[in-house]
Amino acid sequence: MQRLFSGIQPTGEPHIGNYLGAIRNWVALQDQYECLFCIVDYHAITIDYDPKEIGPRTLDLAATLLACGLDPKKCLLFVQSEVPEHTELAWILSTCTVVGDLARMHQFKEKTEGDRHLATLGLFAYPTLQTADIVLYKAEVVPVGEDQKQHLELARETVRRFNQRFGPIFPEPIELLSPAARVMGLDGEQKMSKSRGNHVALADSTDAVWAKLRPAKTDEARKRRADPGNPDRCNLFSYHGFFSPPEEVATINAGCRSAAIGCVDCKKALHANMERLLGPIRERLADYRARPDDVRAALRDGAARASTIARHTMEEVRQALGLR
Ligand code: TYM
Repeated sequence: MQRLFSGIQPTGEPHIGNYLGAIRNWVALQDQYECLFCIVDYHAITIDYDPKEIGPRTLDLAATLLACGLDPKKCLLFVQSEVPEHTELAWILSTCTVVGDLARMHQFKEKTEGDRHLATLGLFAYPTLQTADIVLYKAEVVPVGEDQKQHLELARETVRRFNQRFGPIFPEPIELLSPAARVMGLDGEQKMSKSRGNHVALADSTDAVWAKLRPAKTDEARKRRADPGNPDRCNLFSYHGFFSPPEEVATINAGCRSAAIGCVDCKKALHANMERLLGPIRERLADYRARPDDVRAALRDGAARASTIARHTMEEVRQALGLR
């Protein structure tokens, strides 16, 4: 079995973009690969954060991942800071990463619009830590959404430089793009993200989901109920593609074009279909939240198993660097 690694940050609330773009895919991949899934708290501290919140958020994200269907019997689920070799390897890889490449990263540019000189070294070097996450386990496959493609290209470049200098130790990781690689936010303008507040959280109650869908933008050319709409210009119609059965997607498509259904009808149908998928996740999440010790135990076990692999890789790396 090939080895697979992916990560998610414990910042903000996990949302349906994370679920459709990553987590749902991870659940399916557990049976096909030897999987490691990591809650990357060392990445989360590269932006402003509250030290009192990151611990509870990390635990709650683990509960969410379990509620979505990650199974610790099939995969390794752990927290990055519990395996300190991630940061040791990141330092070593930083000697094989070129500053000009890091400066081209879209995410770095987006996050530092304004005054780039005040950006921290940690935020700048973020992709090097991401590379270390992957290669510490010699993972070959990395499932991600589209926003991580550029980081993966850089990871391959760093691996090539490292291998050229020190010998063929790491495989070049390839990305496995999710079938929903870029889920748009409720604003229809930017990708769904925790920081932009344009998201539906996985933990949102059914009423909270409806309160977000009801005012959400649809085809702006459709001013009145009687106007025919164009689903291709409607952000919410794209959500039907993720949550609704294909026959219903086809009926809604035709109904919108002929004005047989209005935007509220379309949103109600979407809400019902989202509830069918998200309702059971919410219930399982409530169950895991009620037994945090079980979640902690799963994470502890995951970290112990990950550490064994990590220590082994670091021995090999230190040898290759001449540090032993
Ligand atoms: P993060 O925490 O921002 O997101 C976790 C995963 O969710 C995907 N994603 C989306 N997919 C589709 N549409 C969206 N709107 C959307 N928003 C988020 C992301 O692509 C990602 O797969 N740097 C990474 C975490 C990381 C990592 C790694 C990933 C650290 N080390 C090693 C892979 C391998 C991040 O910030 O993900």
